[in-house]
This record gives sequence, C-alpha cells and structure tokens, in this order.
Amino acid sequence: MLKKIDRFDKSREFAAQIHDLIPGGAHTYSKGDDQFPHNAPAAITRGEGAYVWDLDGNRYLDCSMGLTSVCIGHGYEPVARAVCEAAYSGTNFQRPAAIEMEAARLFLDTVESGEMVKFAKNGSTVTTAAIKLARAYTGRSRVAIAREHPFFSYDDWFIATTPCDRGIPADARSMTATFSYNDLASVEALLADRNHDIACVLMEPVKFDPPRDNFLQKVAALCRDAGVLLILDEMISGFKWSLKGAHNYLGVKPDLSTWGKGIANGFSACALTGRAEIMELGGIRREGEDKLFLISTTHGAETTGLAAMIATIKAFKEHGMVESNWARGEILKQQLDQVIRSRGLEQSLQVIGYPCLLALVCRNAQETPDDAFRTLMMQEMIARGVLFQGLFYPTWSHQQPEIDLLVEAFDESCAVYRQALDRGDTAGLLVGRPAKPVFRKKI
Ligand SMILES: Cc1ncc(COP(=O)(O)O)c(C=O)c1O
Repeated sequence: MLKKIDRFDKSREFAAQIHDLIPGGAHTYSKGDDQFPHNAPAAITRGEGAYVWDLDGNRYLDCSMGLTSVCIGHGYEPVARAVCEAAYSGTNFQRPAAIEMEAARLFLDTVESGEMVKFAKNGSTVTTAAIKLARAYTGRSRVAIAREHPFFSYDDWFIATTPCDRGIPADARSMTATFSYNDLASVEALLADRNHDIACVLMEPVKFDPPRDNFLQKVAALCRDAGVLLILDEMISGFKWSLKGAHNYLGVKPDLSTWGKGIANGFSACALTGRAEIMELGGIRREGEDKLFLISTTHGAETTGLAAMIATIKAFKEHGMVESNWARGEILKQQLDQVIRSRGLEQSLQVIGYPCLLALVCRNAQETPDDAFRTLMMQEMIARGVLFQGLFYPTWSHQQPEIDLLVEAFDESCAVYRQALDRGDTAGLLVGRPAKPVFRKKI
C-alpha cells in the first residue's frame, strides 16, 4: 500500500489567499482550483525530473508535466544550463539577437514544415498570427475549426465559440465556423456554400482518436481545391508524435503549422512555420506592397526561450527521446489496461490515445462520462502521490520506477473507484465538489 499524503496546512493557507491577489487563482484556467479535487496541492514549489513538490513538502509524480510543456523533465540540466548561459549573455537587444537565426535554422531543419518561421512566447499568439496570414493570403475572413479540439487561442475568434463569451463583441462569433474531426462531409458542407468566406481550416492533426479514412489528406485536398489554407496546430502533438510533428507522422502537408508547449522543456518558445510564399506576407522586402503586421512583440525572441528550444531539440535528437517515450508509453498503456481488466472496470475506465499521450475516460455506473467519478479518480491518485488530471504524458523522466509507481497508485485508486461504482455514486468517497469543465457559462 502506498503511503497516503496527509499534510495540507500550507496548501490550505495558500488557497485561502491566492484568489484575493490573482483572478482565478492561476494564470491558466486549467490549473485552477475548480479543475482539481479538494486534496490537490494548492501550489508547486519545485520540480525535478518527473516529480514535483508542494508547499507542505509532499512529493508527487507528475503526469501532465505543465500542460505537457515540460517535454523532458523538470529542471533538466542541459536545458537549464543553456538558459542560464543565455541569461548571462543578455536576453533582449535593440537589434535581433544572433541566436534568432541559429534557432530558426535548427527549428526549420528539425520540423521540416515550411521554409520560414516566426517565434513568439505564447501559442495563442502564433495561432492568431496564422489566421491573420490566411486572411491576408486568401482575402477572406472566416475561420473553420474542429469543434472537438478544446483550445486554439485565448483570442476572441476562438473564445467566442465557447460558452465563456463574456467581454467579447457579439459579432465575433460569426467569424468562426465549426466542423467535426473525421467527418469529411462537415468540412465539405462548409466549403460548398459559394459565399463561405472561409480563409482557413484549423485543427490539431490528431488527438486521442486516429484520423479515419485519410481524413487529413482529404481535407488538405478540399482546401487546395477551394483555395483555403490548411493550418495544423501542433501545440500539443509537436515533439510527441514525432519531432516533425504529428502531420509528418500522419502523412499530410499543411500550409501553416503552429508549435508551442513541448518544444522548449517548459520554457516560453512558440513558433509559426509555413510556406515561404505565405509567410513572406509578414516580411518587409516587397517594397510598395501593403504591410501586414504579423507578430511583433517585445519578448517574442527573448534569448532564454530560444536557447531552451535549441537545447531541447539537441537532447531529443541525441537520446532518441520520441522513440523512447513511445516505447514506455506502450508499456504503461498495457499495464493500465491490465489493471482495468483485473478490477473488472472495462465498462467504466478506458485508456485512450497514442502511447506518446494517453488519457483516461472515467464513466459512472450508467457507463456515461462523469465529472464526479473523474474527480474521484484524481483524488485517489493524488492521495497516493501522483498528480493526475486525466492525462499520462510519458517523458524522458518517466522511466520504469515512475511507471511502476503510477501503475501501483492506479491499481489502488481503481479499488476505490470500484466501491463507488458498486454504490452507484461517489457520495461518501469523494471529498468536496467535483471538478468542473473549464469552458462553462456560469462560474
Ligand atoms: C492545441 C493548442 N493550441 C493553442 C494553445 C494556446 O497556447 P498558449 O496557452 O501557449 O497560448 C493551446 C494551449 O493549451 C493548445 O493546447
């Protein structure tokens, strides 16, 4: 039996104060208190490899790794050292830093997704920039996004499509249309309207379900025929499915791609890549043409983020990290499936996704996905020292001992889950309220 975590005093103190200082209590809604069970650590003080420590000194195995941005491990020394060296050599200058060209060459050679790149600090910045380019290139205004993909940007064109549309002008909603991933007819229907005004089709190349029946290739062909740009958002999939992104793994060529979390081991480095003909619209070489204000931010090319990205790419290549992560992800999936079978929970728990990024679906006694049951699973994992929020992201830092710990905690948590199913609900087992969806109308 794993020892249960029972020190919470400092977490409680932090949780009682933070909402007076920071709206939402965090700078990412998916890290917020309403996303976790009552026993979750309120804040993390440090991380090392696959582990993090909370304010009370409790240690947790990390399953999500900073929204999957920490792609090697917390505090990974070669990346941290490269960042320190960059910091000591100056982080921001009045002309481009020399590292911008080195980073651009290495990134483009690595991802092989277009001829030009623009760096930024946030994923939202690069997805919004991709849309601006598509609008300028096609002369159209609307964006078509896959409705199953939960997040592309915190900018209005995306948030207006969610229930959290407060503070956004009402007409913003009409700028974004939706289609269904793996449903070619839904894309065809959008483009069949002669007045569709769609500049680009935007989606993640893949999430947990594989593309079916050459969906991506068919959408690419549809886009080509309609003169619409295909933008693939590799924010999550980049450096997980392949160093060249999931689009390369799945054999499809987008016009533009966006990259972010997971390319710089948690440091802030994001990228927009694409065909030179489109990207050059953001350039200043075509004298006399209208200028397009692409990405222009003070901190976009801060040297520390680019140094982290360069060191991360080198480490991935040197150690064959993508292949290694897949291999351990495969082992992990087999072992989790085995636990589910041995506890007779096949109808209630399901591990989905590719080995490089697995997710757990939690169903109730009626076999429907259920927030209370999902929260109970998180609660039990966290109580056993595994910081779990529904995802298993195997990184270089998740070696066999980490897989063993995860599987042991999962097995014990499944025993509690079984009890809840047998009772028909989580009452008496779940402490506090269930976690809520990030995108909801009411707080
Ligand atoms: C697929 C995808 N695209 C874009 C973004 C936005 O990135 P950022 O949070 O860096 O702005 C995210 C962030 O969660 C994402 O998951």
